[in-house]
This record gives sequence, C-alpha cells and structure tokens, in this order.
Amino acid sequence: MLPAVVDFLACPYCAAPLVPAGAALACPAGHSFDLARSGYVTLLPRGRRGGGGDTAGMVAARDRFLAAGHYAPLTRLLAEAAAAAAGPGAVLDVGAGTGHHLAAVLDALPDRLGVALDLSRYAARRAARAHPRAGAVVADAWRALPIRTGAAGLVLDVFSPRNGAETARVLGPGGTLLVVTPAADHLAELVGALGLLTVDADKDARLAGAFEPHLEPVDRTEHRWRLALPRAEAVAAAAMGPSAHHLDAADLARRAAALPEPVGTTASVVLTRYRRPADLG
Ligand SMILES: C[S@@+](CC[C@H](N)C(=O)[O-])C[C@H]1O[C@@H](n2cnc3c(N)ncnc32)[C@H](O)[C@@H]1O
Ligand SMILES: [Zn+2]
Repeated sequence: MLPAVVDFLACPYCAAPLVPAGAALACPAGHSFDLARSGYVTLLPRGRRGGGGDTAGMVAARDRFLAAGHYAPLTRLLAEAAAAAAGPGAVLDVGAGTGHHLAAVLDALPDRLGVALDLSRYAARRAARAHPRAGAVVADAWRALPIRTGAAGLVLDVFSPRNGAETARVLGPGGTLLVVTPAADHLAELVGALGLLTVDADKDARLAGAFEPHLEPVDRTEHRWRLALPRAEAVAAAAMGPSAHHLDAADLARRAAALPEPVGTTASVVLTRYRRPADLG
C-alpha cells in the first residue's frame, strides 16, 4: 500500500494516525495491523474479525457483471460527477466492492489517492489491485471509520451501507458525498423472472435519511439505461445482490433457463449529491 494512502488511515482502537511498519501498519500506541499478501489491511477491532460483507461467490459475480460493462453508464456518471465535485483530499469508497467504480473515479482525478473500504475480505483482495493510486481496507462501515478526520475530499457510497455521522466526520472542507441507490424499478424484469428481493418502497426514504442531518442533499438525479443480458450474466446479477442469501442455486438455474437469451431489462438508479452543512453556509 502506498505510504501516501496510509496517511489517510486511522487506528481502529485509538484513532491515531497509522504509519507503515514493515509488513504492517502501526499507530504510536503500538496497535499493529498486518498487511495481507495481496496488499489490503484489516482495520477491525478485535472480536469483529471472522468475515462479513459479501461472500467470495457474490464478489466474483459482481466482478463478472461489472467487467462485462453492464454498469458502464453508472461508472461514467460517477467519474463525471467526481471530476466536477471533489474537494481537496482522498477519495473514499465505502462498501467499495471490487473497487471498479473507484478506479474510474481516480482516472478522472489524476492527482488523487483512493481508499476502498469494505467489510468483505474477498472484495478487499480485488480492490487492492483495482488502481495503482488506491489502497484497500477491510473495515465495518457501521462503526467508526478507520479514516482520519477531514481526510476525504470525496466519498462514494454505491449500493452500500450509509453511516451519516462518520461520513460527515471524514469529509474535509469543500468535500462531496456521492450516493447511488437503486430506484424502485431497478432490474424489474429480473426481479420478477428470477424471484429476486425487491427494493422496498420505504427503504429509499429511510436510507436517504441516514446521511441527514449530518450532510445536506444538494441534488438528486435519476438515471436509466437498457441492458441486454446474456442469461449467465442475469444469473450473475442475482448472485451479486442481496438475493444471493435467499436464492437456491437449482431454483435460480431453472428460472434462468426460461429467460429469453439475452434478457432485456432496465437499470434504474438515483444519484444524490451531498455537501457539508458548514460549506453551504
Ligand atoms: C451491493 S455491493 C456494492 C459494491 C460496490 N459499491 C459496487 O457498486 O460495485 C455492497 C458492498 O458493501 C459491502 N458491505 C456490506 N456490509 C458492510 C459493512 N458493514 N461495512 C463495509 N462494507 C460492507 C459488501 O461486502 C459489498 O461489497
Ligand atoms: Zn492505536
């Protein structure tokens, strides 16, 4: 991990700055965190080890789906919004998954460094290779983020957990938060045909509340694009999402076999931009 990326990180026990120490990162109080061979670091307090977040299968399915370009319009949208809105400081992607969107955002911001934060070590393993200017951290977005106060100029939250107080803490002056949520009709044709979990109508409002009053929404835009998914990638879409925990593989295969080849569906997402109340006056 680049030492300049380590400069953004904080000890999960005492919040002090971390510095490289051989094959580990350490704080002045002597708390030490080994770097995995694949380059990520786990910054979870003791007792919180032992997994969480997306499974290996979910991460592999997401990697496949993203690599096929089905969410390229979303990645482009994020890169454009980032170039227009980033304040000074790091780019933090919370629930970064494979780091796919973060990598495109860093390409659009050639002088910035990035941190991919995810609870899944399978995701962190991939995110560690996502971009030469990014580091990957296993951490829990529901707890204190192991990121120094005010270190981020841009935070991304794409279909991921939302911790308003901590996001506001790590955003520095002039910072922006970009949040992507699924709209009610996101992948509606797959939801019906494959028996996926639906986005509950109240959930959007409930989740949107999670960043307020810590941050102020500035604007909200809806984006839709058509997808023509080969059946195998429709299955990947099911396997990478929350339905993965509920679906029986045999049932999914049977339902997928009845789909047209390719299956047409619409991706439908909402992008909300937030700023710090202090910056809005
Ligand atoms: C739907 S995926 C989105 C991944 C990525 N943002 C993307 O759009 O490709 C949600 C991600 O949040 C991660 N996640 C779930 N719970 C988490 C938590 N408590 N803290 C950090 N990450 C978490 C999962 O491991 C998964 O990678
Ligand atoms: Zn410490």
